[in-house]
Amino acid sequence: MADSIEQAVARRRTFAIIAHPDAGKTTLTEKLLLFGGAIQLAGEVKAKKDKIQTRSDWMKIERERGISVVTSVMTFEYGDNVFNLLDTPGHEDFADDTYRTLSAVDSAVMVIDAAKGIEPRTLKLFEVCRLRDIPIVTFVNKMDREARNTFEILDEIEEKLALDTAPITWPIGQGKTFSGTYHLAQNAIRHGDAETERTKVNGPDSNRVAGLLPENERETFIEEMELAREACRPFDLDAFREGHLTPVFFGSALRNFGVRDLIEALGDWAPPPRAQEADSRTVEATEPAMSAFVFKIQANMDPNHRDRIAFVRVCSGELKRGMKAKLVRTGKPMSLSAPQFFFARSRITADEAYAGDVVGIPNHGTLRIGDTLTEGEEFLFRGVPNFAPEILRRVRLGDPMKAKKLKDALQQMAEEGVVQLFSPEDGSPAIVGVVGALQIDVLRERLNIEYGLPVEFEMARFSVCRWISADTKAELERFVESHRGDIARDLDNDPVFLAPHEFGLNYEADRWKQIRFAAIKDYQ
Ligand code: G4P
Repeated sequence: MADSIEQAVARRRTFAIIAHPDAGKTTLTEKLLLFGGAIQLAGEVKAKKDKIQTRSDWMKIERERGISVVTSVMTFEYGDNVFNLLDTPGHEDFADDTYRTLSAVDSAVMVIDAAKGIEPRTLKLFEVCRLRDIPIVTFVNKMDREARNTFEILDEIEEKLALDTAPITWPIGQGKTFSGTYHLAQNAIRHGDAETERTKVNGPDSNRVAGLLPENERETFIEEMELAREACRPFDLDAFREGHLTPVFFGSALRNFGVRDLIEALGDWAPPPRAQEADSRTVEATEPAMSAFVFKIQANMDPNHRDRIAFVRVCSGELKRGMKAKLVRTGKPMSLSAPQFFFARSRITADEAYAGDVVGIPNHGTLRIGDTLTEGEEFLFRGVPNFAPEILRRVRLGDPMKAKKLKDALQQMAEEGVVQLFSPEDGSPAIVGVVGALQIDVLRERLNIEYGLPVEFEMARFSVCRWISADTKAELERFVESHRGDIARDLDNDPVFLAPHEFGLNYEADRWKQIRFAAIKDYQ
């Protein structure tokens, strides 16, 4: 029998993995899918991994389309739960895409390399999660290699992230002697990579545990466990759900150790789909009417069809194939005739999807990032962020006859979130903005290949961009009037102020206290 909406919502866990490159995100993803039965053989995700090292690498990967796509959302089941794992691009030049994806998850797994601890990108991604109070489960990976002392790792998480830790398991051995995990509260162990159930033991000093450790490590293990029991915090579900405490697991994704511990924790503790804030009210996940928002758009998933897939997170109700939805931005109805689910390697037609599920909706440019779909009600979801670009360029077109085509192409790519597009108030040519340099290369490549528009990019006289607002329209108008040469409009016609440098921005911000200069804008 099909689930009721309440049952379907309660079963779902939608999460992302955050990690510094090389910590083991790809390997862990692959193992989660393997344990969830979504892929037959380990190595399939790895083979598709977009290890973007250089610009030319990226181009090649982009040409081999379909790669980043299949890994952008993965669904698998384990026990009673349905897991939606949302992948995030590895390269920091695509950070805005990552941040938008994090707006669509309810929890995150933070993977840490046991020898390296908290690395810069982990920290940055963690900060984004903290802004949204996303609960974090920590997986300390690569315990099969030389690792830091377990207490040191916990201390570092507490200090660098200002986050309480509660170790749930403790590594039995380390490096070459790493042979399993000990569950502190349950007094039970999991040994080896194949064990589905934990085995109860009498304590850290039991013969069963001793048998897993070389003689010279047994005493240290017992002492460490005693200390851990005394000194470490116990797990507290509320503190975890509020984002103040992280349960910590130890393992080796490569050798499958600790992976089951992690999946079970997500099933037991990670929150089911949350209530979603909209402009006029909060939408509960179990409400009967369907609602969803677009957080990512992927073009050219299938080069033969030139389709565009909008990834929507369902927020309430039941998204059914063939249903009519309302696109709130335009007020127009939209038929969801072919929504799709994505698995490790394939996509299938989605007959129904519930809150927390991510569904791909093929369309030809109707949907934009940040769009809200409902069954008719007028509200707009908030919280899909738009970041002020750090690189601004003017596009130079070899053939002036193609100006209109260029305008349309840029508009489309701005709607996909590849670039941001700003039209200066003084009528000068459009300015494109990106967060990372690689995005400029992707834009050049796509304009050339897809639209037959060879372009070059010129430095703009600006390098800083901020959305501007004020309490009253008149105040904003006064600022716009006196800075007309430095004002442009974004895709939604919202005004931005462009400055040649930070100093210029700060100077104006000091003089115009009534104007707000924002580096982040919610799509709406
Ligand atoms: P990433 O997606 O976070 O960038 O990391 P990825 O999974 O690709 O892992 C980075 C490297 O670390 C890989 O080695 C991978 O095999 C290794 N690795 C991942 N988890 C573990 C683990 O638990 N233990 C050990 N010892 N190694 C681990 P590589 O040499 O870069 O790739 P490959 O040649 O092994 O495929």
